[in-house]
Formats: sequence, structure tokens, C-alpha cells
Amino acid sequence: MTEQLHGKGIVVTGAGRGIGRALAVRMAAEGARVVVNDLDADNARAVAAEIGGTPVPGDVSSTEGVRAVIGSATEALGRIDVFFANAGIDGAGGTDSLQTPDDVWDKVMDVNVMAHVRAARELVPRWLDDGLGGRFVVTASAAGLLTMIGSAPYSVTKHAAVGFAEWLSVTYGARGVDVHAICPQGVQTKMLEDAGPLQALLSRDSALPPEAVADAAVAAIAEGRFLVLPHPEVAGYYAARAADTDRWLGGMRRLQQKVDEAGAP
Ligand SMILES: NC(=O)c1ccc[n+]([C@@H]2O[C@H](COP(=O)([O-])OP(=O)(O)OC[C@H]3O[C@@H](n4cnc5c(N)ncnc54)[C@H](O)[C@@H]3O)[C@@H](O)[C@H]2O)c1
Repeated sequence: MTEQLHGKGIVVTGAGRGIGRALAVRMAAEGARVVVNDLDADNARAVAAEIGGTPVPGDVSSTEGVRAVIGSATEALGRIDVFFANAGIDGAGGTDSLQTPDDVWDKVMDVNVMAHVRAARELVPRWLDDGLGGRFVVTASAAGLLTMIGSAPYSVTKHAAVGFAEWLSVTYGARGVDVHAICPQGVQTKMLEDAGPLQALLSRDSALPPEAVADAAVAAIAEGRFLVLPHPEVAGYYAARAADTDRWLGGMRRLQQKVDEAGAP
């Protein structure tokens, strides 16, 4: 049992399947009381039933949606101690990202970035007011530290998600708000299955089961580490990008060429 999680009131968004489901299952195993959110109400109910949690279906990407979810979750839990802002979409659509229409960019931005801003806007003032603090965990992606071959909206929004998590940690960390950013490469979920020709590339360093992401998150929470890197090799890529950005970009361009030759976007 991890003391930072045992007995806590925890919300996981996008927990009807995939990484969110694995986080919810693991939180329950850690002795937390868990609210399972998802857009897909049936999946949210099924996971909640499996772990003895509370289903709170709903769309966390809008202000009204996330307020409703946080309201119902607070009723169920008494207090939200930990919030996993996990729901995300890829928005790639298999086309040249430069031509991605504005409404798709807006949608991806809403789910992958603004959902986190809107949730934190509700939760952080409460955590500061009652003096007990809280924990905000963003599921970003290695695409938010490096870049994502293929999808500009995914890369850009995941960079923004990491940026927002960093800002939150810098601004409120000394006042009791702990923040973590989960940054995996390929994980065996429906999102990866739907990645089409990019699936092989994303699985290059091995696609992990979602439970491994939950393990890495719990370890980082226990150790007080901001970055959660279920694929440890990402730390090396991130360091290489910082140390010599042009060299790193050159390597990424070669990777893009290989993808182009293989017929992916
Ligand atoms: N699978 C990967 O390879 C991978 C790698 C890095 C990061 N991630 C990130 O992990 C997170 C979870 O992804 P996954 O792989 O489990 O994907 P997934 O598509 O299997 O599951 C995502 C879940 O989120 C739900 N959801 C989507 N929009 C929502 C909204 N507005 N409100 C509530 N629920 C919503 C979906 O219904 C779905 O159940 C995402 O943020 C994703 O970007 C995934």
C-alpha cells in the first residue's frame, strides 16, 4: 500500500478502458476510494462495478462537463484528494496534419489540454482553501517531451499538457499541490490499435501493457517525482533532445523518412 494513495478519494478521467482503467484498478488495489469517469457511460459503470468504485460518466473537456463530474465525485468521495486527468484523444485521422481543420484542432486542444486547465481551476482553490493540498496527475505522453511523428495536434497538445503540469507544479507545489506528468510511448490500448501504420513505430521500444503505466505512476507518486516515464529510454531521448536539439531533429527526420517510405502519413 502506498501511503499517498491509501484511503484517498481519487478521480480517474477516461477510465472506461485503457490506461485510465488500469489506473483506476490500481488505485482501488491501493485502498483508495475511486470515481470512474468516462464519456462512455457503460464502460465507466463496468469498471466501477469491477473495482467497487463509483461511476461518474461525463465529458470532462468542457467547463460545464468537468464541473458536473467534479461535483458528483465530491458528493461520492467527500473530498477529491487525487485527480488523474487522463482522458485524451489522438486527433490524427490518418491525414496530413497540416490540413487538419480548425474544429479538429479545437477538439483535441479541449480534451488534451483545456480539460486539465478546467479541472485544476475547480480543484486547486479548494485544495488551497482547506489547507490539505491535493495531487494532480496529467496523462500526457512521450510526444509531449519529444514529438509525435504524424500528428501535429497530438504533439502540440501533449507538449502543452506537460507545460501546464510544469506550470502547476512550479506555481502551487510549495503550497501543497503535488503534480505529476505521465509520459509513455506506446501502450497496448485501443488508441494504439487505432494508430494504423504508426502502430509499429510507436511500439518500436516495446508497447507496454497499461498496468505498467499504473505501476510507474504509483512509483513516481511514492518517490515524489514529477515525470512518470514507464519507458525508461524516454529519459535518454529527452536528454539528447536538450543536449543537441539539431542532432536530435536530424534523427527524427530520418525516422519520418522511414515512415514516409513505409507509406504512413
Ligand atoms: N496508448 C498509448 O500508446 C498512449 C501513449 C502515451 C499517452 N497516452 C495517453 O494516455 C491517455 C489514455 O489513453 P489510452 O491509450 O488509454 O486511450 P483509449 O482511447 O483506450 O482510452 C481513452 C478513454 O478516454 C475516454 N475519453 C475520451 N474523451 C473523453 C472526455 N472528453 N471525457 C471523458 N472521457 C473521455 C474514452 O471514451 C476512452 O475510454 C490519453 O491521454 C493518451 O493520449 C496513450
